[in-house]
Amino acid sequence: MSNDHEIENLSTETRHFPPSAEFAANAIAKPDLYEKAKSDRLAFWAEQANKLHWHKPFTETLDWSNAPFARWFHDGELNVSYNCLDRHVENDLGKRVALFFEGEPGDTAVYTYQQLLEEVKKAANVLIKLGVKPGDRVAIYMPMIPEAVIAMQAVARIGAVHSVVFGGFSADSLAQRIQDAEAKVIITADGGYRKGRASALKPNVDGALADGKCPSVSKVLVVERTKQEVAWDDSIDVWWHEMMATVDTEHVAEPFPAEQPLFILYTSGTTGKPKGILHTSGGYLTQASYTHKNVFDLHDKTDVYWCTADIGWITGHSYVAYGPLANAATQVIYEGTPDTPDWGRWWDIAAKYNVTILYTAPTAIRSFMKMGREVVQHYDLSSIRVLGSVGEPINPEAWVWYREVIGGNKAPIVDTWWQTETGAIMISPLPGVTDAKPGSAQVPLPGIDAKVLDDEGKHVGPGHGGYLAVTEPWPSMLRGIWGDPERFKETYWSRFEGTYFAGDGAKYDDDGDIWLLGRVDDVMNVSGHRLSTTEIESALVAHPYVAEAAVVGAKDETTGQAVVAFCIMKRSQAEKTMNELDVSKELREHVAKEIGPIAKPRQIFVVNELPKTRSGKIMRRLLRDVAEDRPVGDVTTLADTSVMDSISGKMSTAPSED
Ligand code: WTA
Repeated sequence: MSNDHEIENLSTETRHFPPSAEFAANAIAKPDLYEKAKSDRLAFWAEQANKLHWHKPFTETLDWSNAPFARWFHDGELNVSYNCLDRHVENDLGKRVALFFEGEPGDTAVYTYQQLLEEVKKAANVLIKLGVKPGDRVAIYMPMIPEAVIAMQAVARIGAVHSVVFGGFSADSLAQRIQDAEAKVIITADGGYRKGRASALKPNVDGALADGKCPSVSKVLVVERTKQEVAWDDSIDVWWHEMMATVDTEHVAEPFPAEQPLFILYTSGTTGKPKGILHTSGGYLTQASYTHKNVFDLHDKTDVYWCTADIGWITGHSYVAYGPLANAATQVIYEGTPDTPDWGRWWDIAAKYNVTILYTAPTAIRSFMKMGREVVQHYDLSSIRVLGSVGEPINPEAWVWYREVIGGNKAPIVDTWWQTETGAIMISPLPGVTDAKPGSAQVPLPGIDAKVLDDEGKHVGPGHGGYLAVTEPWPSMLRGIWGDPERFKETYWSRFEGTYFAGDGAKYDDDGDIWLLGRVDDVMNVSGHRLSTTEIESALVAHPYVAEAAVVGAKDETTGQAVVAFCIMKRSQAEKTMNELDVSKELREHVAKEIGPIAKPRQIFVVNELPKTRSGKIMRRLLRDVAEDRPVGDVTTLADTSVMDSISGKMSTAPSED
């Protein structure tokens, strides 16, 4: 958890930004929403769920009799894709734009709801033709192009289960996820555009499937995006465009039970093995659409919404592929990086499409701060009226900059706390209601019960800190960890009896508003992406040079946290003459190859020993002190108390990295 000094800083933040009278008057969410939810929580959720189309209405809202395995709306039946597409077209919204796509090279495409529905119907028929049945898993490994959303919707439409794997993950990480979910089909692309070049994806799929590593996979469906050279195996590879041209254009969306699995999304935990977080249909879509509408104040007729998240993360699921479409929103999706061709790219896009709602991450905001406000001020961003933040705590300085420079000093900011596991936003201001405080996620949404608890599970009350917990079940909660019910119970439900343990530290201020303080476990948060220390340590020790490794997340000005590794070399390697900078370069590349570039350590230090307790547990806390350049804390529990002196000495002479 963050140190005391940080908590002190937060407590001295006194700036307030109440909503304007005009914004409040036109806001979707009114103050009485809290009262309504409080007076009958389950009736409130049933009312939200009934805004969806149910082929068969539900009669029971929540079944918690087999806790922690929840069933929401379980006797109801619906089709997720029908709710996102067909019903809008049937309501005469077929001509409304669903997606404005901006490719990195500057190519564009527009899909109305009618057109998106037509594509999804065909894609559903393609999947059926490839043998995909309800409940089968389909892996999606794609760039941020319209076909990615179409693929997700098509999988959902036929009652199958998608597992999107972020395009930045390596062949091995992809293989691990395909194996765990036993995916039958993979949907990918030849490549996508990033940083001004075509970046290949298909070779990683080929690598994942090589040597019979993924026997469950029968077909690979490949979208042509970059037209780069690809290796082709006729027995398994099929082109998306060829299949789409030959299938039937009609597809009727069948109803599925509310608890039909919708997707698995892998996320890092405290062990080396990623957890396959399982979400189901009715409850997930209910909370994704309710939060999207109320938190972002979506006026679907007039707003143009843009969430910058990739579909590889939960934000790209709930707030690109599902929530906005369920709400008939018009949204922008962008394929590339914010600095291509220059740092004005995002603002050029926002101005071009008159974006009114922007949802992004603090790490991006801090990168823009570094570039200077002139880059942004070159563009007319007067259309922006709501700003969102997600992924990590936003520091007050970045919050205020976001409001002033991007939000023209008027757009409210919603700092939204949630997780892959929670499926949708849990704690956030409501833009027309809450008196906003820079740096605080503030209050649980109407319908959500979250509290800060102490070690014994007691509510700490205003002015105190502890662990964030969700004390009542919620519709979009994870239903389990794929294939591992014991790990599900152990990870989330054993710390406090019957209560969901989020793994985040948090504190109430004197008004009772919640401030998030970062993870309390061995999970790092780099640019809003979760990485496990153990996973990177395993990758490092898999390298022939490395005998032992310890990884910590150190504070980083731009990315929030950065990966810092301490490695002990094998004797044979130590005897070699290769210099330390080369060793560290080699190891950083190795991690990028094993896990993906996002996991690449910022720094690697070659050390002779690691700080361990007498029972052999590495004391990461001490390494974090060193990595963050502050005095090393209490070393009395170390087996050898002199170890830290040698490591600290090492840090001051160590070569620096890019
Ligand atoms: C962190 C992303 C502070 C937190 C949606 C959580 C945040 C983890 C916030 C989940 C926020 C997310 N303020 N911290 N507004 N939003 N986090 O699963 O540590 O990728 O546990 O989900 O991100 O990351 P995940």
